[in-house]
Amino acid sequence: MDAVIGPLDLSAHVDEALAVQAVAFGLGADEVAVRRQIVLRHMTHRGARALGATVGGTLVGFVYGMPNDRSHWWSTVVEPYLRARGHEHWLDDSFVITELHVHPAHQHRGIGRSLITTITDSADEPRSILSAIDTDSPARALYRSLGYEDLARQVLFPSAPKPYAVMGAPLPLRRG
Ligand SMILES: CC(C)(COP(=O)(O)OP(=O)(O)OC[C@H]1O[C@@H](n2cnc3c(N)ncnc32)[C@H](O)[C@@H]1OP(=O)(O)O)[C@@H](O)C(=O)NCCC(=O)NCCS
Repeated sequence: MDAVIGPLDLSAHVDEALAVQAVAFGLGADEVAVRRQIVLRHMTHRGARALGATVGGTLVGFVYGMPNDRSHWWSTVVEPYLRARGHEHWLDDSFVITELHVHPAHQHRGIGRSLITTITDSADEPRSILSAIDTDSPARALYRSLGYEDLARQVLFPSAPKPYAVMGAPLPLRRG
């Protein structure tokens, strides 16, 4: 891995980050404009922080997250699904991975794994939660290999066309 992993001022570099996300995740211009406002709002939340991966000074991947807060929109959406399966306590004392994306030209080199393990290593919380599209994807395989397990499946976010899985893992994330 030739990438350099380090702190990212995501508010200042939101357009570069969303350019990576647009090609990695497949976002249109309208979705990028919406995400831009969401990211800038997220970065004002308590404990929100981001890491970037750069190659030759160019951003090729990023991760960001924050301690979960039950009043946040994401938490209110997943809460009934977790409660129905007896997993509601995962919403407390948990670090949420909000986004993780690596540019396709730089995938499969360990950058995604390094980003998520590095950001969670600096979390004070004993566990981490996230949501991922509920399908067999590289992201789901990565999360499982790090110890994340399914807490709920077929979770529907308003306006998202595909159902998500909510996953949780103890921290520090599993190595090797
Ligand atoms: C998920 C993502 C961030 C992984 O980034 P990456 O830098 O390619 O990941 P890594 O090289 O660190 O790979 C880590 C693990 O991911 C899994 N993985 C990566 N690519 C995979 C693939 N094509 N098929 C299956 N598993 C894959 C493997 O478990 C891999 O571990 P291994 O190399 O020990 O086998 C990247 O694929 C991505 O940006 N995808 C599109 C956006 C996205 O889905 N983001 C997550 C939203 S929830």
